[in-house]
Amino acid sequence: MKQVYMDTFGCQMNVADTDRMELLLFHSGYNRTPFKEEADLILVNTCSVREKAEQKIFSLFGTFQPLKKQNPDLLMGLTGCLAQQEGQSLLNRIPGLDFILGPDTIESLPTAIDRIKASNKPLVWTEFDSLKNYSIPELPESQIKPTGPSAFVNIIKGCDKFCSFCIVPFTRGREKSREAKEILEEVSRLVDFGAKEIILLGQNVNAYGKRGLDVPVAFHELLYQIVEVPGLQRLRFTTSYPRDFTPELVQAYRDIDALMNHLHLPVQSGNDRILDVMRRQHTAQEYLDLIGHLKNEVPDIALSTDIIVGFPGETNEEFEDTLKLMEAVRFDNSYMFCYSPRPGTPAEDFPDTVSDEEKKERLQRTIDLQNRITLENAAMFKGKVVEVLIEEKTSRYGASFKGRSPHYWMVNVKCDENALQVGDLVSVLVEEVMGRALVGKLTDQ
Ligand code: SAH
Ligand code: F3S
Repeated sequence: MKQVYMDTFGCQMNVADTDRMELLLFHSGYNRTPFKEEADLILVNTCSVREKAEQKIFSLFGTFQPLKKQNPDLLMGLTGCLAQQEGQSLLNRIPGLDFILGPDTIESLPTAIDRIKASNKPLVWTEFDSLKNYSIPELPESQIKPTGPSAFVNIIKGCDKFCSFCIVPFTRGREKSREAKEILEEVSRLVDFGAKEIILLGQNVNAYGKRGLDVPVAFHELLYQIVEVPGLQRLRFTTSYPRDFTPELVQAYRDIDALMNHLHLPVQSGNDRILDVMRRQHTAQEYLDLIGHLKNEVPDIALSTDIIVGFPGETNEEFEDTLKLMEAVRFDNSYMFCYSPRPGTPAEDFPDTVSDEEKKERLQRTIDLQNRITLENAAMFKGKVVEVLIEEKTSRYGASFKGRSPHYWMVNVKCDENALQVGDLVSVLVEEVMGRALVGKLTDQ
């Protein structure tokens, strides 16, 4: 078989897309290799959500140049959001690039490779698929690879929200949901192949089912259906949008045991004027009310978020509102970013009044605050028993295995090296906090 070397930047959707491409390539005679020197094909699945990701991608392609010189038959492809955003122009910026595929064309990857080989010319394929529905066709069962204990399932693609800073609606296109029947079949298959936990994915996952399905199913109904799949132990989803968060979804958290009590709900800012110019369509208080409602129904719900600092025009007082909101909610974890102007987005034209220095300082303050809250939240687990889904072996912190608790804390488990297997669900007594993780031992029962 030929060898493909793959690299992924960006969100979970990209990780899932890379997995899908690996499977499609397997059917076309390629095995994945961790060594780029051995590759017949190099594929980089890219992200363009912030400028930093782009810079990393260009320097990575720089490191491939000697390989292409040594082996002129080596094919190099760039897929994902940067491909969608920059298209043709990447052929000039990256010497030796053979093809560019947008995120909506990954199903055509094998066809694209055949075409390049036949024509010997670079190929740019970035149209959005014109089909009404979103489908990920099943591949022959005998060739599906075994999965880990936690598996991702795409349920909706695209985003219609057009937050003023965000490039995703341009690179991923409009929201399109997958038929529930297809999702349930995939979940069953994954569980048959060893998955214990399913993480539903979408740029805007709780917009699922709003329109476009042949058989309409609301997001919360989909959750109730999925947890009926025999053998499934845990269900999660990411990423949610506050305005699409329904009261029925709050009830689902309360009613469904297998739906883990953890929610990633990006807030971006704690200031109403900034939220308005970001076009988030909610106020800080509305966000807090939603969290309050959720905490009433599900008192132990764990929360994480995304924060942007230094949005154009953000004053110091407005920034302080973000810190206040973080204190009020006490997120376990936040993904914190300096604002980065993105081509073609409305915010690109807003006068950027916040200096880079000021942005960095604000970012550092959010990071320091979050670190403190993370450690305080973690400390509350000391002496408590948590259920852990064992995901892999480890040698850190004197532990032998690690996995996630229901609240999505990484838990390192001290035990005999042969005491457990990946995929086991075990009870762990938390003894200490190390770094951002919990460490504990197996309970006796
Ligand atoms: N719904 C998406 C979120 C989009 S991108 C998801 O599933 O992850 C992830 C995060 O990147 C956003 O929530 C936002 O906090 C950040 N982000 C997006 N555009 C950005 C920009 N132009 N500058 C800085 N951060 C940005
Ligand atoms: Fe981006 Fe806003 Fe959608 S952050 S992904 S446009 S919800």
